[in-house]
Amino acid sequence: MIPARITIVWIGAILALGPPGISHAFHSGGVAECIGCHSMHSTEQRGPSPSLLVQSDPSSVCLTCHQGTGDTGPNSYHISTAESEMPPGAPPKQRTPGGDFAWLKKDYTFVVDGQAVNEDGDRHGHNIVAADFGYRFDRSNHSAPGGTFPAARLACTSCHDPHGNYRRLADGRVATTGASILASGSYATNDDPRASDPPAPGTALGSYRLLAGNGYSNHGATFPGVPAAKAPSVYNRSEEFTQTRVAYGNATTGGHATWDDWCGTCHSAVHSGGSLEHPVDEELGSEIGMHYDQYVKTGDMTGTGASSFTSLVPFIEYTGDYLLLASHAKNDDTYLAGPAPSDRVSCLTCHRAHASGWPYALRWSHGGEFITYGGQYPGIDTTPAVPEIARGRTSAETRGAYYDRPVTAFAPDQRVLCEKCHAAE
Ligand code: HEC
Ligand code: HEC
Ligand code: HEC
Ligand code: HEC
Ligand code: HEC
Ligand code: HEC
Repeated sequence: MIPARITIVWIGAILALGPPGISHAFHSGGVAECIGCHSMHSTEQRGPSPSLLVQSDPSSVCLTCHQGTGDTGPNSYHISTAESEMPPGAPPKQRTPGGDFAWLKKDYTFVVDGQAVNEDGDRHGHNIVAADFGYRFDRSNHSAPGGTFPAARLACTSCHDPHGNYRRLADGRVATTGASILASGSYATNDDPRASDPPAPGTALGSYRLLAGNGYSNHGATFPGVPAAKAPSVYNRSEEFTQTRVAYGNATTGGHATWDDWCGTCHSAVHSGGSLEHPVDEELGSEIGMHYDQYVKTGDMTGTGASSFTSLVPFIEYTGDYLLLASHAKNDDTYLAGPAPSDRVSCLTCHRAHASGWPYALRWSHGGEFITYGGQYPGIDTTPAVPEIARGRTSAETRGAYYDRPVTAFAPDQRVLCEKCHAAE
């Protein structure tokens, strides 16, 4: 066994090596070197954790690498911004599809019609418990809304398998054993010369984002299967000039699950009763699909199916074909086609998986009628200030929450993005 003493040095080396935008291998789609996360040497173990981890809790282990200091912008596989890099009024720096957890640390207070509104940062997404990085459990949700998963136990490892056991085999099935994993299965293109997609007989690729699959169990949640998707290999980036398109799929057989069922592991009954009853995993059909294609922004219905995609309202493609998904996962706007009638609306159409700049990890501000004002990104620093639209944020934070899109991507008085599929009411 490799002496545990070198653990810290080894993590340091990984951090030093990773240039921005380039994914530097650690998990490579499967189980990584044990000592990246565990230590056999008691002086390097932290906290009460029973698993001999190098930090106080599972999520802090992940954040040793997945958050860094010195980030000047989106940085490769980072999914959290250090507090030191995020002064008041400045947005978190990461722009990944799942979103930057640091939004959870941003509380907002503002006054509307003489009434103070407190928007707790806890509302901005999944409050993972990572004591070494200042993340604590949600103080108002005691369990997952529409389910029973305890908020105090929510960790990266509630959703991701730290050991990356789930793999897609040559025959398309997902299993935890069998052929060994050659590379990540998440990306549209693969730079590992040994790996191919579909995997060659006797080889395998990791599940999308090391997500938990059939039988994975964490504090009472047992997952039905892994969801299918492909991302472009550079995915943590500003969308000022071109969008980052994750192609979400709909595989159901051989150890797969739909996104609805996957999120439903912990939220089985969330939108089936309550204030918003919205169909999930529901076919868009030709009418809503046509509306999606034509809709450019509020008042502008001149769009066409070849260029109607927006990563603020992504749909689920009704296919389990990873090669097809790979051909749609782009970050240079070379594939912006809208939905087929059989494509679906699901959880990730409206929510980000980690966190966002808005309540309920929504992809857009749903707190008021409008998301822009007079051709500006609303903010407490703009004139006129419109508190019910600015919601305590600076215009820089608002823009950051939309991944740096120019405000002209929206109408001067843009309404909430439910409009992308539904006619304005
Ligand atoms: C990416 C980080 C990471 C790597 C790499 C890793 N582990 Fe773990 N491991 C964890 C975490 C985190 C837990 C605790 C899971 C929890 O409590 O949610 C854990 C738990 C365990 C456990 C306790 C039982 C279980 O499965 O939960 C064993 C045993 C274990 N790991 C062995 C290994 C071995 C052996 C390796 C190398 C082949 C390894 N781990 C590599 C993060 C990692
Ligand atoms: C020693 C540093 C290190 C630790 C600790 C670590 N990661 Fe990673 N992680 C990386 C690097 C480097 C990448 C990008 C390259 C890769 O995927 O191998 C990455 C990529 C990922 C990805 C994307 C992988 C893919 O194939 O799409 C996920 C998901 C992830 N990490 C989750 C975790 C979780 C959850 C933990 C804690 C249990 C963790 N990581 C701990 C370094 C680390
Ligand atoms: C509630 C489930 C959940 C939790 C908790 C969670 N993740 Fe994720 N994560 C996902 C999903 C789903 C995706 C894929 C998002 C997408 O493609 O839209 C993802 C994507 C990622 C990625 C790829 C970048 C991105 O944002 O798409 C990394 C890296 C990652 N997660 C690491 C982590 C780490 C580290 C933690 C804990 C600090 C964590 N995740 C907690 C569900 C979760
Ligand atoms: C392992 C269990 C688990 C899975 C899987 C899971 N969640 Fe959650 N989710 C929770 C818990 C626990 C909470 C309550 C704690 C919190 O809000 O931080 C929560 C809260 C939420 C919230 C409310 C956030 C807020 O601040 O009020 C949304 C929205 C949400 N989840 C969406 C999703 C989506 C979308 C997926 C699938 C990509 C998903 N969840 C998968 C456990 C889970
Ligand atoms: C059409 C958009 C849309 C879809 C699809 C959608 N949601 Fe939501 N969700 C919302 C909105 C908007 C809210 C804000 C609360 C409200 O208005 O009732 C919300 C709120 C939530 C909450 C917080 C509820 C609470 O009481 O705190 C959770 C959890 C959640 N959604 C999970 C999911 C999951 C899981 C899925 C997929 C099964 C999903 N959502 C699909 C739009 C959507
Ligand atoms: C990606 C497309 C899409 C988006 C975005 C979307 N919806 Fe829907 N919505 C649908 C589909 C598909 C249906 C089901 C078919 C139908 O009712 O015509 C639906 C149905 C509905 C219904 C009727 C519910 C029922 O049970 O009959 C309401 C109300 C609704 N949506 C409200 C919203 C709201 C509010 C938002 C924004 C938070 C939103 N939708 C965003 C696609 C979408």
